[in-house]
Order: sequence, then structure tokens, then C-alpha cells
Amino acid sequence: MKALVLAGGAGTRLRPFSYSTPKQLVPVANKPVLFHCLETLRAAGIDEVGIIVSGSGAAVRTAVGDGARFGLDITYIPQEEPRGLAQCVTLAQPFLKDDDFVMYLGDNVFVGGIKESLQAFRENGAVAELVVSKVADPSAYGVVEVDPEGRVTGLQEKPVRPASDLAVTGVYFFTPLIHEAVAGIRPSWRNEWEITDAIQWLVTHGHLVRAHAFTGYWKDTGTVPDLLE
Ligand code: TTP
Repeated sequence: MKALVLAGGAGTRLRPFSYSTPKQLVPVANKPVLFHCLETLRAAGIDEVGIIVSGSGAAVRTAVGDGARFGLDITYIPQEEPRGLAQCVTLAQPFLKDDDFVMYLGDNVFVGGIKESLQAFRENGAVAELVVSKVADPSAYGVVEVDPEGRVTGLQEKPVRPASDLAVTGVYFFTPLIHEAVAGIRPSWRNEWEITDAIQWLVTHGHLVRAHAFTGYWKDTGTVPDLLE
């Protein structure tokens, strides 16, 4: 299995810090958030990693290098403009080829790792598995609707009336069918290629998508209050 790490993006919500450094390089517990991500992937037994970087990605390339110090083989995938998570999948297709992969948002921290979720994906026969976490205020997140067996029946983006308290975190497991799904969607109202639309495409077309509850500590560090927390 390969990993696709997203370390591009505009980072508007983390200004002014993100004016001078990519938000994935802001330190948390004495090292860049991105280093936690790379170590988590290695600990899960993954060593082939593609990293989406914005523009030339000079700062990330300088910090991470070829990945040898993390025990990883790293390929950089430049993204000219941040046009959404699903666009990252499209850009990475030559790297991902026909392999299963985990997509990992490079500004997210998962204390406790992702081994359990990876194992569940290997065993449950789903075409996609979303790592989800119970949150107090689901209306601020992408939310999944699940049936009693853990099958995803629908997704809502920042819903006014959330169907559950399960938020989509920053880790997604995909089979190559996601490429067909991404090809089947259009840009959203904010002119981005949304990964939630691609996942909804999978559900609508009758494919098995599962949610796996993350029981450790998860934090998306994309805003100043969350970063401080
Ligand atoms: P977000 O935090 O959703 O988006 P953003 O980085 O543009 O931030 P903001 O909304 O504050 O402007 O992105 C989640 C992760 O994915 C983050 O690590 C950045 C990365 N990303 C990309 O690499 N390319 C993209 O096109 C987008 C939208 C995000």
C-alpha cells in the first residue's frame, strides 16, 4: 500500500503563520506536524509516500528530503493551485497507479497511529474506508451517516442538522476505484474538486464504503485555536 500525503493548500485559516511557512511545517510537540504524519505512516508499515506540495514545495523538500531519515521513499507531486483534495488524487494518479492507498492530510495529528484502521480496511472488503471520530460539534466538519453495520450511507459537508456525531478525520483508505469516482464529479460551488463528492459518488453507485472509528486523540491543526490545543 502507498500513501498520499497532502502538504499543499492555501492555509488561509492559519494566517499569519502560513504566510511564512507551510502550515504542515509548524511545530507541534517539538517537531513539524508533517513529521508526526510521516512517522505514523512508517509505524503502520507503509514506506512508499507521495507528498503533494504547493508550487515548487521548496520548504517541504528542504525539511523532509528524500525521506531516508524516516525510512521512507518519497516522491514529490507539485500542485500549482490548491483546487481541492480530489484534485490531489488526480495529480497523484501516475504515482499511485492501480494500488490501494491511504490519503493523509499533512496537517492532522493522530496519537495512537493508524495501524488498526489500516487492518480494518484490509479485512472489510470496502472500496473506501473513512476514519471517523466522535466530535462535540459535528456541524463544523464533514459528517458521515452510517448504518448499524458501519456502512456509510451518505455524507454531509458542515451540516446544519448533522445526521450523526461522526466527523470525517484526515485519513482515508482507497482502492483504485476512487479514480473513477473523481472522474465522475464536477467542481463544487467553491470551485474545488471535493473528495466528499467523490466518496458520495461511490456510495450512490452502490459501492461499499465503510467508516472506522478512531479511538485515539485526533487533531486537525489547520486553525490557530486547534493548533494551540
Ligand atoms: P484544508 O485545511 O482543508 O485546506 P487549506 O490548506 O487550503 O486551508 P484553508 O481552508 O485554511 O485555506 O486542507 C487539508 C490538507 O490538505 C492540508 O494539509 C492542505 C492539503 N491540501 C492540498 O494539499 N491541496 C489542496 O488543494 C487542498 C485544498 C488542501
